[in-house]
Amino acid sequence: MAKGLEQGDSAPNEAHIAVHWREEQYIYPSPKFVGQAYLSDPAVNERFSMDKFPECFREYADLLSWDKYWHTTLDTSNAPFWKWFVGGRLNASYNCVDRHLEKYKNKAALIFVPEPEDEPIIALTYQELYNRVNEVAAMLRDFAGLKTGDRVTFHLPMTLELPITMLACARLGVIHSQVFGGFSGEACGMRAADSGSRVLVTMDGYYRSGRLIDHKANADVAVQVAKEQGQEIDKVLVWRRFRDKPASAAPMVKGRDYFVDEVLKEYVGRKVEPESMPAEAPLFLMYTSGTTGRPKGCQHSTGGYLAYVAGTSKYIQDIHPEDVYWCMADIGWITGHSYIVYGPLALAATSVIYEGVPTWPDAGRPWRIAERLNVNIFHTSPTSIRMLRKAGPEEPKKYNYHFKHMTTVGEPIEPEVWQWYYEVIGKGEAVIVDTWWQTENGGFLCSTKPAIDPMKPGSAGPAVPGIYPVIYDEEHNEIPAGSNRAGNICIRNPWPGIFQTIWGDPDRYVAQYYKKYNRDPKSKDWRDWPYFAGDGAMQASDGYYRILGRVDDVINVAGHRLGTKELESACLMVAEVAEAAVVPVVDDLRGRMPEVYVALKPGVKPSKHVEEKIVHSIETTIGKIARPKSVRIVPDMPKTRSGKIMRRILAAISNTMDIGDTTTLLNPDIVEEIRQMVQGKERLATKAGPEDIRRFGEET
Ligand code: PRX
Repeated sequence: MAKGLEQGDSAPNEAHIAVHWREEQYIYPSPKFVGQAYLSDPAVNERFSMDKFPECFREYADLLSWDKYWHTTLDTSNAPFWKWFVGGRLNASYNCVDRHLEKYKNKAALIFVPEPEDEPIIALTYQELYNRVNEVAAMLRDFAGLKTGDRVTFHLPMTLELPITMLACARLGVIHSQVFGGFSGEACGMRAADSGSRVLVTMDGYYRSGRLIDHKANADVAVQVAKEQGQEIDKVLVWRRFRDKPASAAPMVKGRDYFVDEVLKEYVGRKVEPESMPAEAPLFLMYTSGTTGRPKGCQHSTGGYLAYVAGTSKYIQDIHPEDVYWCMADIGWITGHSYIVYGPLALAATSVIYEGVPTWPDAGRPWRIAERLNVNIFHTSPTSIRMLRKAGPEEPKKYNYHFKHMTTVGEPIEPEVWQWYYEVIGKGEAVIVDTWWQTENGGFLCSTKPAIDPMKPGSAGPAVPGIYPVIYDEEHNEIPAGSNRAGNICIRNPWPGIFQTIWGDPDRYVAQYYKKYNRDPKSKDWRDWPYFAGDGAMQASDGYYRILGRVDDVINVAGHRLGTKELESACLMVAEVAEAAVVPVVDDLRGRMPEVYVALKPGVKPSKHVEEKIVHSIETTIGKIARPKSVRIVPDMPKTRSGKIMRRILAAISNTMDIGDTTTLLNPDIVEEIRQMVQGKERLATKAGPEDIRRFGEET
């Protein structure tokens, strides 16, 4: 039993969990969906059974075109640094573009929908994608001097230029590292320095919520911050949002900054042979937050990753070339890499890219887009669903679109939100998959197989083919299905999409993901190295998993991971702040939001000004996405006798939950003082609270 879960009232027995999770009825896919699905034969379970591992994953690798076939499906000789499809060679850009030309050259590969509704939609055919990727690859190689194995950082918004530049890098074997466009220049600079990028690709501006954002200014900050970290960025390539007017007031730095469209004039019509890369060559880095302050660059492979996202796009997303598929995530997150760009394009799909926010200019926008483009597969997060439901509960009914398939990803979805998704957005016609996975994983881990397994609102479902999860308690005992007990979800076996390492920090890779449940650090047998995901979960007797949330100091805001340590260090950069603690607070729309507690230095008086400085510091070091729900200036932090801040108590106060025993604290009186500051004098009725908050900040 995980520590802290067995203490009296807070034990997550079924009755307790039922406050948030009732056992839901199965819902079955329509015969129409099953009839057309790629995967409708339950024999897949047999093909991917444990005794067929790892060879079962040949089925995914065979979806790709290899320059050279591999000789070893899985090499575990340097466990837990897994190598998939060893000996094989391929190119990701060739697989996503060139090979489709024969059959699909005139079919749309990508459709760009600008946020302003009066700007025209742009459809890019596979032929034109091929032309553009080649030209950009030639420019990156010959103008920017990039070569195989180099890293390049992107800070690009959701426009066609992002996937084009990704695929151009992949063509050269250059490792791209896209930083979410909404992150600050400083966050971008830190990541660029960590990856050792000397080229930054950005855009002058883009639209968000009706505003034209000046984005180029962030690049200037990024270059400066990278320099302070010891990384020189000597070229900044700036795509332009408009051909006829500037989107940024920031000046171009001579000899460093170049407008891509001007440079590209030299490369019109140029072709670049795709570099034949070893299967285990890195394809890209994707930074994510963890328990320590520094974001981690998750390194994903070429062959294993591409095989896994192609396989899961086919079997779980059911994307056929004739479908119009729209994933509303940002390509700056792993969901966008795997399920807007690489997976769908590997299958010759038509993938839609929308620039802006779903509720702009009103909550009918996504449904107008779906109707106009005839989208039939839709993919989004619970936060977006909650927002669309709040802003326009009846909107979808007004539009004539029909989805066959819908996905939810990134955070747990409440059954009532799931029902609205199913009945109102999906019109009762579309099958839903609730996909659980992480940046580190490359692709889905748990989800129903849409034409085979029934849906159960609020449960991610069983594992996807070839994935074998297990729930362990803190003592390494397996928690069986149907026991009504929660624990740490792990995956018993490696899979092709799993990241290869943390860029530049292999020790942290082992320590964070494998050490906890490793049976023998010298073992070369994958059975000794379960992957620790960092999520709490339960398994119902039917084998379906319910993901309960993070077990570490990570806050999942609107489906995006923020490390509390990153937020706290941003607070500590404000001169007046002595101590900071950040905790998650439940939010109706975003799932969780960060709430900041700070104690000020002696002699400093609390003021609105200090609060504003803290919010500003968070926004500039991380980005607006990390904006706290509130900032609480407290006289002192609740602490253990050894001086550790008790974040769990602050989280309980913020969420009106049972605070538990505080008598052993160094300063127990402060707890009631803070409680009154936050909740008022009256004692509010305590709530049970979700699992990730109950466990939050617990000492382990
Ligand atoms: O806590 C889990 C939650 O999101 C975390 C991973 O976040 P990130 O690496 O940003 O990747 C998000 C998109 C893959 C997980 O550790 N999470 C993700 N999907 C689900 C989920 N929680 C519940 N249900 C899901 N379907």
